[in-house]
Amino acid sequence: MAGKILDGKKIGAAIRADAAEAAREFARCGRPPGLAVVLVGDDPASAIYVRGKVKASREAGIASETHRLPATTKAPELARLLDRLNQDDAVDAILLQLPLPGGLDASEFLARIRPEKDVDGFHPENVGRLVANLPGPRPCTPAGIMEMFRREGIPVKGSRAVVVGRSDIVGKPLALLLLHQHATVTVCHSRTRDLPAVCREADILCTAIGRAAMVGADGIREGAVVVDVGMNRAETEAQVRDFFGEDPKRLARFRKNGYTLVGDVHPVAMRERSSAYTPVPGGVGPLTIAMLLANTVALAVARQSRA
Ligand code: GUN
Repeated sequence: MAGKILDGKKIGAAIRADAAEAAREFARCGRPPGLAVVLVGDDPASAIYVRGKVKASREAGIASETHRLPATTKAPELARLLDRLNQDDAVDAILLQLPLPGGLDASEFLARIRPEKDVDGFHPENVGRLVANLPGPRPCTPAGIMEMFRREGIPVKGSRAVVVGRSDIVGKPLALLLLHQHATVTVCHSRTRDLPAVCREADILCTAIGRAAMVGADGIREGAVVVDVGMNRAETEAQVRDFFGEDPKRLARFRKNGYTLVGDVHPVAMRERSSAYTPVPGGVGPLTIAMLLANTVALAVARQSRA
């Protein structure tokens, strides 16, 4: 069986169009929704993500601004910026791009963002809201995955879901969202014994571990839905051939850039054993950005209704 491709670009575009419509509706109050993105340091991957987020938000009619601080930034300076954005009435949503450079404790600054402007849902109050299944902003990647299930008609209720990875950004919140939608959820991590056997139980298998092609054919139940959040680099020709065979596009990309992206699941196994799967790239990535826009507008609307 060759699984159906879950096209994140297409699904993300539909979510973005809805967010743009909601942003237009909101702008009738006299101003567009406002997003402030804070980027500290010079991590190249973070810089690319932030550019993509700001571009997409502008296209959706969201007023977005990027605040770049050097890697040498000290805690009081970052705290001052966040306090200023917390007070700024034109800013509805604040995103502090992670990871922060060494020496800055992410949990301290995530807790400094006002919960009603916390577009990632990372503030401890919003984490509590997620655990208790109360309304609030949900982390963008897990929220995007759930929205994809909804839009694609993939049933969650009663399914067996296995989440590989227990990060605060993806694994933990995704497990909770699946649980709230009545899946039976198992969370795996680096100490899980016989990972393939646990993964094989899954009707819905979600991986977010950051290890190239770590889950193989022996970890995929025939007909499972596979959601691969991993974005890893295959950096040798041998790896590229192992993961993609003689795929000329992949080999060309590798020769041009020195790498090609691969998820946490072996791409051939995923395609051949799943009933549907998210490709890497072009699967989960666009959903994350789309949900950032949806969350931004939702925060703007919620603030406006309290004003
Ligand atoms: N770094 C990687 N993913 C994310 C995310 O979803 N939000 C933030 N703020 N930083 C990230």
